[in-house]
Amino acid sequence: MIPQMRAQGLAGEGVLASRARFVARGVATPPLVVDRAEAARIWDADGREYLDFAGGIGCVNLGHRHPAIVDAIHEQVDRYLHQCFMVGNYEPYVEVCRRLDELSPCRGAEQKSVLFNSGAEAVENAVKIARAATGRGGVLVFERGFHGRTLLTLTMTEKVVYKAGFGPFAPEVYRVPAPYAFRGVTTGDALAALDRLFKAEVDPRSIACAVLEPVQGEGGFIPMPAEFLAGLVERLDAHGILFVADEVQTGVGRTGRTWAVEHTGIEPDLLVAGKSLGGGLPLASVTGRAELLDAPAPGGLGGTFSGNPVACAAANATLDVLPDVLPRADAIASTIRTRLERVAPNGSDIRGLGPMLAMELPEQKPDRAGAIAAAAFARGLILLTCGLYGNVVRLHVPLTISDEDLEAGLDLLEEAVGDAG
Ligand SMILES: Cc1ncc(COP(=O)(O)O)c(C=O)c1O
Repeated sequence: MIPQMRAQGLAGEGVLASRARFVARGVATPPLVVDRAEAARIWDADGREYLDFAGGIGCVNLGHRHPAIVDAIHEQVDRYLHQCFMVGNYEPYVEVCRRLDELSPCRGAEQKSVLFNSGAEAVENAVKIARAATGRGGVLVFERGFHGRTLLTLTMTEKVVYKAGFGPFAPEVYRVPAPYAFRGVTTGDALAALDRLFKAEVDPRSIACAVLEPVQGEGGFIPMPAEFLAGLVERLDAHGILFVADEVQTGVGRTGRTWAVEHTGIEPDLLVAGKSLGGGLPLASVTGRAELLDAPAPGGLGGTFSGNPVACAAANATLDVLPDVLPRADAIASTIRTRLERVAPNGSDIRGLGPMLAMELPEQKPDRAGAIAAAAFARGLILLTCGLYGNVVRLHVPLTISDEDLEAGLDLLEEAVGDAG
């Protein structure tokens, strides 16, 4: 049906019509119908070319179809596909874990890892590991946090549009403010709220872990100040609470380092990765010191497809290439930041860490940010918005982007900001 429609020049429209008829509306998608993708470019089903500053929501930090990743996938496909790591060992899984352990910024000499399919699944398992290791049930999370859409992670996530109609939520999840300088929440305010929570609301000795994104992603690209992380970890340590860094969005080079916590000098107890780890295939991980990772008994962790061999092959290629592209991240970041400072409407906040950059518009409503994204799309640039109010325009530029594509994309962004008025 679709090839025939394409012959009639109706490919995009045809897919959109079928999508409306056959796919649940709960998955919200803009009207893009992808045909193929390469590096920082996507072509739609009607042959139109786009620059891609969304990267499938931060999942292709090395660009679409990086040749090393594609080769590794082909090689793996020719050997075996699914095995299930609970049925037989295979080397690509073990190798991803070995490399994550070597790259780990977590506390402790001896690190271990375990693999999952999605960020949400990995966050849930980080909580399971923390509970098994501490014998406690409580989970501490932060305002504007996004940790996934499964029931526990949705409880940990803040934003009604994701949550409406899906309760009741999981028990023993406590939320406190996180610093947000642009809207007047200081590190002192956030730490004072945490101290109050432990005085008034919950015995800190019942909390297993605190889960925080070092740069809040869906919440608005808000970097957590190093002094906040230091104050937080000091309090967590005092009460024997584990610190879990959710690096699903910030990890694998997004901020110009392998892990965002490397910018801060803070050592988490557990680190969760996902998104770009699989180079475009679904893979996520939990890493931390061996005694924590080994707290759940054999059989306590796993999953039918978790750590799929093809996704592991793609991850190993990703981790091979990453050190070669990280040195360019600072230059990409400074080009983006300079341009955002020039084009941002008055009263906006330009912020982020390394090339993980965004501009928050002054008004707390989605209209203008949505209009910028729509105007960009009309001009051939794919952009995402984020933030509790949907008023943040964020950029997920691949670290492999050419200077020409970066400048061309930023030109389109500048024109889109002008279009949106
Ligand atoms: C910080 C963070 N954690 C967890 C998740 C959930 O990941 P997934 O969508 O792969 O389940 C996301 C997804 O955007 C995320 O940004």
